[in-house]
Amino acid sequence: MFKLPRGTTDFTPEEMEKRRYVEEKMASTFKSFGYREIQTPTFETLELFTAKSGDSIIDEIYAFSDKGGRALALRPELTAPVIRFYIDKLQMEPKPLKLYYFGNCFRYDRPQKGRYREFQQAGCEIIGADTPEAYAELIAMAYNILKNVGLKNIKLNIGNLNIIDSMFTKIGLSKKDKKKLLPLIDKSQFEDVLSLLRDLDVPKDNAEKIIDVLQTSDIIKVKDFIKEDQSVKDELSNMEEIVDLLKNSFNVKDYQIKMSIVRGLDYYKGLVFELDASVLGAEKQLCGGGAYDLVKLFGGTDVSTAGFAIGFDRAILALEAEKFAFPSFKTDVYVIPVNEEMLVKSTEIAQNLRKEGILTDLDILRRGVGKSLKYANSKNAEKAIIIGPKDLEKDSVTLRDMKTGEQELVKIANILSKLKNN
Ligand code: HAM
Repeated sequence: MFKLPRGTTDFTPEEMEKRRYVEEKMASTFKSFGYREIQTPTFETLELFTAKSGDSIIDEIYAFSDKGGRALALRPELTAPVIRFYIDKLQMEPKPLKLYYFGNCFRYDRPQKGRYREFQQAGCEIIGADTPEAYAELIAMAYNILKNVGLKNIKLNIGNLNIIDSMFTKIGLSKKDKKKLLPLIDKSQFEDVLSLLRDLDVPKDNAEKIIDVLQTSDIIKVKDFIKEDQSVKDELSNMEEIVDLLKNSFNVKDYQIKMSIVRGLDYYKGLVFELDASVLGAEKQLCGGGAYDLVKLFGGTDVSTAGFAIGFDRAILALEAEKFAFPSFKTDVYVIPVNEEMLVKSTEIAQNLRKEGILTDLDILRRGVGKSLKYANSKNAEKAIIIGPKDLEKDSVTLRDMKTGEQELVKIANILSKLKNN
């Protein structure tokens, strides 16, 4: 017996129907905001991912050499690939350039519920817009996508990395010190942050103020802490504008300022945000994104970039946890030839219905009426068309309602209108 590789998943027909349903909903929301779909390869050069993050990322991804000795990697995410694509072929496109994508990603994570080694992301990048309204629209779109797929309980958290960075600079921390602090902040281990700040000789009242700001959802407290710093003041007023737009124009009310969002990936700067589904417990982060810098590093002409990605598998888990009623699979019609002589006519009728977009299945096992009806039930058929010699002599077939069991004789020419009127 062969086993699935750890952290991967097989999807049943039922699961695929749920996934396609959700994918379509997400795509239509992306499109409704003026985004267009792109696709990039599943594997890239390894360097694309180490360029920003350094070699340490190799431990966390699927990196390999091909037969030609090229260093490659299965993509752990799509932002770096999309920016590579942009620089290669899309730089001359009118701005803002709005791109969305669906794609599988691979990370050498420790598998658990909601955390896999192969998973799907639905994401987007906006290139060439950095106004508060661009960011508000981006966040609102992420929120709307999750709402439009049917999720009820989602929480939006908004932070800003430039603001945190200047808070740390203000209290005299070096780049190295900040690097040590960020993972602790990311995990909300504020006791550990406090003791590290103490070890770094940060005066107690400053350290406590920092912890307070990191835990606050009150923008005033952040303002108080950084009042003299002009560049950060601008970031703050942008943040206030974004929040106002979200609240008043996009009707996104369940958000929180959360200065402790630091994001796992190394390319972010400025605005960052996350959307959580509290029903999911430990792996509750459904979406993460923000503004980032990669274009210059990859050799392109500097331009502002932002985006987000939704963990597609987690969105499905959250919908299931909220008991969302996914549309169920159905067959419109199951066609049953009563004997072999009826096969040709039955196939012709089935083909004509298929041409009209009716979901039609046909007995291809010569099973007879009884067994066929049982199978039709298992495929959730709404109607069965039973085709026998006597009815055919009158150019008719028997149409059976699978729920009630009621049967009626219908002229072949009238089958379609009969089905459509039901
Ligand atoms: P990320 O936060 O690393 O961001 O991933 C986005 C989402 O993918 C997460 O919020 C989570 O729902 C899902 N996810 C991450 N790892 C796993 C996993 N092992 N199993 C299942 N789901 C997972 C990015 O990837 C950025 N590229 C987002 C972005 C786009 N930022 C700017 N543009």
